[in-house]
Amino acid sequence: MNRRVVYTHGGSPADVLTVIEEPEPAAPEGGRVLIRTTAFPVHPGDLQAVEAFPGKAATPVPAGIEATGVVEAIGPRTRVPPGVEVGGRVAVFPHPGAWSQWIVADAELVVAVPDELSDEIAAQMLVNPLTTVMLRREAQEHLAFGYGGLLVQTAAGSSVGRLVTGACEVHSLALVNVVRSDRGAAELRKRFPDVPVVATEHQGWADEVRGAADGRPVAVAFDPIGGKLAESLLDLLSPGGKLVSYGQIAEEPISVPASVLLHKSLTLRGKSIGRWLSEASAERRASDVATAKLMALALKDQFDVAATYGLGELADAVRHAVRPGKVGTVLVRPA
Ligand SMILES: NC(=O)c1ccc[n+]([C@@H]2O[C@H](COP(=O)([O-])OP(=O)(O)OC[C@H]3O[C@@H](n4cnc5c(N)ncnc54)[C@H](OP(=O)(O)O)[C@@H]3O)[C@@H](O)[C@H]2O)c1
Repeated sequence: MNRRVVYTHGGSPADVLTVIEEPEPAAPEGGRVLIRTTAFPVHPGDLQAVEAFPGKAATPVPAGIEATGVVEAIGPRTRVPPGVEVGGRVAVFPHPGAWSQWIVADAELVVAVPDELSDEIAAQMLVNPLTTVMLRREAQEHLAFGYGGLLVQTAAGSSVGRLVTGACEVHSLALVNVVRSDRGAAELRKRFPDVPVVATEHQGWADEVRGAADGRPVAVAFDPIGGKLAESLLDLLSPGGKLVSYGQIAEEPISVPASVLLHKSLTLRGKSIGRWLSEASAERRASDVATAKLMALALKDQFDVAATYGLGELADAVRHAVRPGKVGTVLVRPA
């Protein structure tokens, strides 16, 4: 049997996600790869998709987008990416319906997992590292980034935030991390003793960021929160600076007086992995996937797992995935 996660209408993921049983998939057709999954991550974006689903679906909507597993069969006359073979470990993204014991994936989207990587890292090898690559490329368009100009990022303790920090350390890029609590700041300081971290639970946090900048321009800000926090980042940016918005955690809108944009000549930019998928060339996507793999190898310690659940504990897994103070990504092992 194949057990997979679906939903038929939007709402709280713990309430609307269900596990259904159906026969195992047949042998894959040409261009497809049959994968027995061993783990999949619960990303905030997966849950947002469930919450925001409009109306009632005519057929169950498959959940999840990323997974890791073992190749069980390859369709006839199928060209597979280097290293992908029957019996080998792979990661796959984007595969709508990745939260399943078996998946039949488009061969082009399957990526071989290096032996040095655990299944726990392999399950997180694509979405978050690719997001980090995408954000870094956006920052690099600012001429001061990498040349004294500072990057500030909020939600810095998140899975993406830790990869951004790791990448900045490897490439000697100046960064100030921002988190919402002293607890989160202490956790990040332990992990990255050389990277300044500021907690927004203190009123003067923006001045602390300016202090850490020590006269250098605040060139770029990465922000997955939005709302008032994003407004504060606009205030912190130096003239010509850029706010890169890549998440929507805050419910309130970002409210910006035109004068702020005008007088400081600021740029606002939204970035999403969905857009990357549809806009990047095939060559760019392949090179970014190769970079994501290298990032997984170089920053193994930043792929923390907050907890691992079984498919029967899905509601607990999705509740844990949004728990404040969690460090790392929640994984589900479907076997
Ligand atoms: N644009 C894209 O394509 C893309 C791709 C991947 C991820 N994302 C977004 O990136 C963000 C991080 O993803 P992730 O998987 O790395 O998340 P994660 O590991 O689950 O971490 C979530 C982080 O958000 C912080 N947070 C939650 N609510 C907050 C609030 N109201 N104010 C300030 N901080 C808050 C948490 O801080 P505490 O530690 O204090 O709880 C935690 O550090 C998410 O918003 C996700 O949707 C976007």
